[in-house]
Amino acid sequence: MAAAATDAWWQSGVIYQIYPRSFQDSNGDGIGDLRGITQRLDYLKWLGVDAIWISPIFPSPMADFGYDISDYTGIDPIFGTLSDFDALLEAAHARDLKIILDFVPNHTSDRHPWFQESRKSRDNPMRDWYIWRDPAPGGGPPNNWLSEFGGGAWTLDERTGQYYYHAFLEEQPDLNWRNPAVIAAMDDALRFWFDRGVDGMRIDALHHSIKDAQFRDNPPNPDWKPGMKPHLKVRRAHTVDQPEMRSLVMGWRKVADEYEGRVLIGEINLPIPRLMRYYGPQLDGLQLPFNFGLMNTRWGAATIGDLIARYEAALPEGAWPNWVIGNHDISRVATRLGPEGARLAAMLILTLRGTPTLYYGDELGMTDVPIAPDQVQDPFEKRVPGIGAGRDPERTPMRWDATPSAGFTTGTPWLPIGDGVAGCNVETERDDPTSMLSLHRALLKLHRKRTALAVGAYERVPATEDCLAFIRRHDRERLLVAMNFSPAPVALTLPAEFANGRVLLSTTMDRGGNASETLALHAREGVVLAPAR
Ligand code: GLC
Repeated sequence: MAAAATDAWWQSGVIYQIYPRSFQDSNGDGIGDLRGITQRLDYLKWLGVDAIWISPIFPSPMADFGYDISDYTGIDPIFGTLSDFDALLEAAHARDLKIILDFVPNHTSDRHPWFQESRKSRDNPMRDWYIWRDPAPGGGPPNNWLSEFGGGAWTLDERTGQYYYHAFLEEQPDLNWRNPAVIAAMDDALRFWFDRGVDGMRIDALHHSIKDAQFRDNPPNPDWKPGMKPHLKVRRAHTVDQPEMRSLVMGWRKVADEYEGRVLIGEINLPIPRLMRYYGPQLDGLQLPFNFGLMNTRWGAATIGDLIARYEAALPEGAWPNWVIGNHDISRVATRLGPEGARLAAMLILTLRGTPTLYYGDELGMTDVPIAPDQVQDPFEKRVPGIGAGRDPERTPMRWDATPSAGFTTGTPWLPIGDGVAGCNVETERDDPTSMLSLHRALLKLHRKRTALAVGAYERVPATEDCLAFIRRHDRERLLVAMNFSPAPVALTLPAEFANGRVLLSTTMDRGGNASETLALHAREGVVLAPAR
């Protein structure tokens, strides 16, 4: 692979996702807010991340907790005001922290004035801003498209006798991205935030934005079984990843490039080869199409090693990789992999080639919090109960200290704090040299100090079946990362250049010293090794 420029902040830096309802409440209403985030910037600086991505903070009826936007250029009063936002941005920039916001182009809220206009009549000038269709010839929805949140994707609007399309909730009507007026209005929304100084946008569900022009039925999915998410009953051949997507993405990139150093990140849940197209033919698309491989791949040395190889091989020349370990839509990493697995995952994502995105609270080892039926907030769980679709468990409040509300709020938290706060919170863990938080801090420090980790080349080296080992190299700097995925100890023969190497960091946080010709790894231990001096 040809060497590409690697000096952008979004290449060498680490991104940290904040789910704003759950990070820090400053006014006692039990819901996190912007002032709360500002109060915690020193923590993030201390932790050692470089950029913060904040899930939507815009005015919203909160049917999907902010992913249903009724005004793209404001702040929801739950989170604060525009001046609170400006203050947050200024305070972040003063600490050399970047701010990334969430751009939701696929759909608005049904309360957005655009949709309110659009639904008034068939000849309303804004009718064509959304996707309206007549009923099927025999009545009923125009085709078989399904909502990601269960049920059909078409809702009949009685007043005008037509159906509108919504890939998610019926409160989230999809915009018609074939309409140039929509493109122009949303470009202006992007500029509004870039003009204020926002450093980048994470673009929500972007592969959904364009649908088949002929509205053909999606083919059935023969692999669907009861217990799987209901929208997977069909293959999304005509509803996601349409070829026209590419020019849309390049258009957004042009807007971002009107400014200095802004980044576009895309939420795109597609297999690797299709994901790659979103970099754009001339790398003129997204800088970082999110790579969810680590969240979708069975955890093991062989499967993860193979994932890395396939991803690296598929990257277009000059494209920059990235890795995601958790987010607000998937069970937390410590629940998926267990405490030791989560430590290994932390080392992996902070030593692989590519920009890491971390999810708030994962640095503490927070696990999913069980949600009683009467506490359910997530509309997905409400519509499709009982198959584990709900996302509340991974969205519970950040744990700052050992008090009952974990230092998150003085009021009643919007989701429960959960058990085990005493051992899993910032205050307790920061004083424990072997805690998950201390491990994250040490990994982030290493990532910052060692250029080889931030931007160096990746080279896999042979290891035992249960181990993954690779070298990261930049100029004369080189580091070896060795990870044992098995529940038994192993001895790894080291490449000659790392014989007698120095242990810089172990996931157990309790060893240093030197290896010999071999490196003894404990069960589920990962180690970063420097060559012997
Ligand atoms: C994305 C978001 C998710 C949201 C959905 C609809 O997948 O990550 O939280 O519910 O889009 O906007």
